[in-house]
Amino acid sequence: MHNTQLLDWDSNVLGVSVAKILTATLTPEKLTSLLHMLKSKGVKLVYWLIANEDVTSQKAAQHCGGLLTDEKVTYHLDLKTLLPFYIDKEIAIYTADTANAELEAISVEISKFSRFSHDPHLTISQVNKLYKTWIDNACKKIVAKTVLVIKDQYAIVGMVTIDDKKGRADLSLLGVDPQHQGKGLGKRLVQAAQAWSIVNNYTLSQVVTQKSNYKARRLYESCGYQQKKTEKFYHFWV
Ligand SMILES: CC(C)(COP(=O)(O)OP(=O)(O)OC[C@H]1O[C@@H](n2cnc3c(N)ncnc32)[C@H](O)[C@@H]1OP(=O)(O)O)[C@@H](O)C(=O)NCCC(=O)NCCS
Repeated sequence: MHNTQLLDWDSNVLGVSVAKILTATLTPEKLTSLLHMLKSKGVKLVYWLIANEDVTSQKAAQHCGGLLTDEKVTYHLDLKTLLPFYIDKEIAIYTADTANAELEAISVEISKFSRFSHDPHLTISQVNKLYKTWIDNACKKIVAKTVLVIKDQYAIVGMVTIDDKKGRADLSLLGVDPQHQGKGLGKRLVQAAQAWSIVNNYTLSQVVTQKSNYKARRLYESCGYQQKKTEKFYHFWV
C-alpha cells in the first residue's frame, strides 16, 4: 500500500489490523482519502508520527479525528564524551531467552507511560500483552541486542534493553520496580547501557521518551543526553 505499511507484529498482538502512515506531510483531503483506503483494506488502527514543526499535518490529523496519544522527545548523546567510563559490576546481562515474571512486571510498569495506555480504545490487557511480548522478544534478541538487569537480594528490580536503530545504540525499554525507584537504580542502568554501547563500538546513544514523563526526562538529561527532536504521535481508529 503506497505511503503506508501494514504492521504484522502490532496486528497479531493487539488482535486488530494495524498500519502506519509513512508520508511526512499530508493535507486534510489527502489524509481523509488515505484513511478511507486503509479502512477499505480492513485496517482498524492507523499510526502517524508527525514532526512538531509540521503544522499542516497536525491540522489534518485533528480534522480527521486523530487521537494525540504521545508527544515524543528523542535524546542523543555522543558516547565519546563519556570516556573513560565506569563498569558497574552489579549490573548483569540477562541471558535467558524468555522474560521471567519480574521482567514482565517491570515492562507492564513501563507500558503505563506509553501511547498505548493513552488510547482509550485499547484495553489494559491488550497493552500488557504488547509489553510482555516486547520484553520477551527483547530477551530472544529479536528486538534488542542485549538486556541488562539489576537485582536486589532476591529478584530483578530494574532493567534496560538496548537495540540498534540506524547504527545508534537505542535504550528501548527502561524501568525500575516502583518499590525501588528513587534510589539511583535508573541512573545506574542508563550508565551501564552507555558503557555496554561503548564496549560494543557504538558512538551515539539514543533514547526516546514522552514529553510528559518528567522523571525519565530529568534522568536522561542528568546522564548527559540532549534533546534532538520532538514529534506528535496520532492514532486513528477507522
Ligand atoms: C524513570 C525511571 C527508570 C527512573 O528510575 P529511578 O531508579 O527511579 O531513578 P533514579 O533514582 O536513578 O534517579 C535518577 C534521576 O531521575 C530523576 N528522578 C528520579 N525520581 C524523580 C522524581 N520523583 N521526580 C523528578 N525526577 C526524578 C532525577 O533527575 C534523578 O537524578 P538525581 O537524583 O541526580 O536528581 C523509573 O522512575 C521508572 O521505571 N519509571 C517508570 C517507567 C519509565 O518511565 N521508564 C522510562 C520510559 S522512557
